[in-house]
Amino acid sequence: MNIREIFPGVYKIDGKVATKNLVPGVKVYREQLVKSGKDEYRLWDPKRSKLGAAIVKGLKHLTIKPGSSVLYLGSANGTTASHVSDIVGEKGKVYCVEFSAQSMRDLLLLCEQRHNLYPVLADARLPDRYSEVGKVDVVFEDVADKSQTDILLKNIAAFKAKSFLIAIKARCIDSSAAPKKIYSDEKAKISTKAKVNEMIVLDPFEIDHCLITGDVK
Ligand SMILES: C[S@@+](CC[C@H](N)C(=O)[O-])C[C@H]1O[C@@H](n2cnc3c(N)ncnc32)[C@H](O)[C@@H]1O
Repeated sequence: MNIREIFPGVYKIDGKVATKNLVPGVKVYREQLVKSGKDEYRLWDPKRSKLGAAIVKGLKHLTIKPGSSVLYLGSANGTTASHVSDIVGEKGKVYCVEFSAQSMRDLLLLCEQRHNLYPVLADARLPDRYSEVGKVDVVFEDVADKSQTDILLKNIAAFKAKSFLIAIKARCIDSSAAPKKIYSDEKAKISTKAKVNEMIVLDPFEIDHCLITGDVK
């Protein structure tokens, strides 16, 4: 078995992306577990996670690292948040903002197993409602909302984040425009307040989605 670390806390195992399981023996979404010596890894399914898809598609730089504090907007039931939890490890924190009570029920069970995940039942458009989160290193947004870029910029400013990642769902912004045009418009909007580093189109894992990453100016 060939295991190499491609980013701090992210591995490739025989060509497949994985994270080291913070809660050995426990699966989150029927992902495959791989044992090597005393370590256990969880394979990261790019069809179930936009961040996983971006890594498979060649993301060059990841600002989510061991020890990072991450504000995760639109965590749903925690599929991707669980891998972020593996990456940031025991010393990191992941604040999971989600406004669906149904998704939050599943997320609460995950937060009981993973002590670096903090559930926040709130609307990501209203960061004043969860200001107790305080300062974070990274904002990661994956909400399907027409104003997703405005939500990102508002949260970056409110929590003084140093970097960001955002999954853009083109159809949610304009179902008739070409996705490429939407990606470049959103990128231009973000560039007024932050420095865009990478833009990765996520097809074929997520049709009409891209992931944009960058640093705050
Ligand atoms: C595409 S899903 C997220 C999937 C998740 N990031 C993952 O990879 O496992 C989008 C989520 O954003 C949530 N959402 C949409 N608008 C929101 C808002 N304004 N505030 C908080 N959550 C929101 C939805 O309820 C949904 O669970």
